[in-house]
Amino acid sequence: MPLVWSARRGHAAVIAVVLASASGCGGCASKPDYPPNLTFPSRADRLVLRSPEHQPDMIPAPGKPDEEIATLDALGGQTADPAGVSPDVRARLETFLKDTFGTPANPHILGDQAILDSATRLGLNEARLAEGSKLFRNLCLQCHNLAGDGRGPSGLFVTPYPRDFRRGAFKFVSSGEGAKPRRADLLRTLNEGLRGTAMPSFSRIPEGERELLAWFVTYLSMRGEVEFRSLAELLGGKPNDSAANLKAILAEWEKAENSPPLPEAPDDGEPGSPTHLNAVRRGYKLFTQKLDSTATVERSCLDCHNEFGRKPLLRYDIWGTVARPANFTEPGLKGGTRPEDVFARIRFGIAPVGMPAHPKLKDREVWDLVRFIRSAPYPRELPPEVFAAVYP
Ligand code: HEC
Ligand code: HEC
Repeated sequence: MPLVWSARRGHAAVIAVVLASASGCGGCASKPDYPPNLTFPSRADRLVLRSPEHQPDMIPAPGKPDEEIATLDALGGQTADPAGVSPDVRARLETFLKDTFGTPANPHILGDQAILDSATRLGLNEARLAEGSKLFRNLCLQCHNLAGDGRGPSGLFVTPYPRDFRRGAFKFVSSGEGAKPRRADLLRTLNEGLRGTAMPSFSRIPEGERELLAWFVTYLSMRGEVEFRSLAELLGGKPNDSAANLKAILAEWEKAENSPPLPEAPDDGEPGSPTHLNAVRRGYKLFTQKLDSTATVERSCLDCHNEFGRKPLLRYDIWGTVARPANFTEPGLKGGTRPEDVFARIRFGIAPVGMPAHPKLKDREVWDLVRFIRSAPYPRELPPEVFAAVYP
């Protein structure tokens, strides 16, 4: 408890600094550093081990994530309280985390040779993490919080909540179903922000700073996920091996980085051209029919993006909060509107919110869906019969 408390007090001071400075002042060297004795807080909030299948009928008002999570067990989900781990076992885990990951002022990834090699291949060296940590403090802490739990003082009051990196799950990836993001995915998020959410674009800070931030987010996520997996093992009465957890997580990040590139988009001509209109037609048809996906039951896009997203069916996501399927009649997508961004969403799904992947669709079919989704908000780009169906 004292750890948590001191960390929170640390924040209050930091927030004042953040608010006092104009944004875009990423590298301001004049900012005071984290106190060297400040440690990452020991996780006290419940783990969401399984989210309910139960369909929520509204998105709760923000501000009380812990209260929301406490209701999930009654709805068929499964959560667990870290306080269930005995103090001496918990102390061992805290020691492992501190030895391995260091502190906010002194972040690092240490371990046996395999761990060091993997961290090196991912570019996670001490100098970069130390710089990334300072930038994160200035630019991200207010929302994503010290440990990356998404419960920073401003973060508590936005919907959806800022990402809790400790779960090791990301929505906007181009690397595979349920995969870790590539660096390029994190950099896109940082450069463009997540449209329609509180996550801002950081396109005004130098590219080198976004690079450092992406490394630091990766590090925070690894630290949080080792803690999550280890607590889940301990609470489930299973043998716990935190170093093995870290190795598995490092391997997942490396796999994402080395995943094959996306195929190149075919040239369908300008929106409104005959070839393009035909692709939109085919995409519309696919969107409205049952498709082979990784869902356990055959689903159509409309099952969740009901009325093309105007009346979405809400779902619990992996964090135990409520996700809203996108509305394709409005312009702008969170994960980017470039054809390849939309391709990645459909091909790989969005695992943390339960949107299935579509590994069996042909590339051409995915591109057709991409053409339809990108044109859906713009009546001029739709064939008349598709326009009539989408905008009755
Ligand atoms: C004003 C609040 C706010 C600030 C400041 C902020 N974020 Fe976010 N961030 C969010 C929200 C909200 C989301 C989640 C949106 C969603 O789930 O749709 C998010 C999500 C993310 C994601 C997850 C993307 C994914 O694929 O799931 C990353 C990575 C991220 N933020 C990094 C950062 C970094 C790095 C900074 C600082 C440079 C930062 N954020 C600053 C609010 C913020
Ligand atoms: C099981 C429910 C479900 C199904 C089926 C589903 N989606 Fe989704 N989809 C979601 C949810 C939930 C989100 C919102 C993720 C978020 O932003 O939190 C989403 C988001 C998206 C996005 C990203 C939007 C953005 O803002 O970047 C695209 C693109 C998308 N869906 C396309 C499709 C297509 C095409 C299909 C059919 C092939 C489909 N979805 C089927 C639930 C579903």
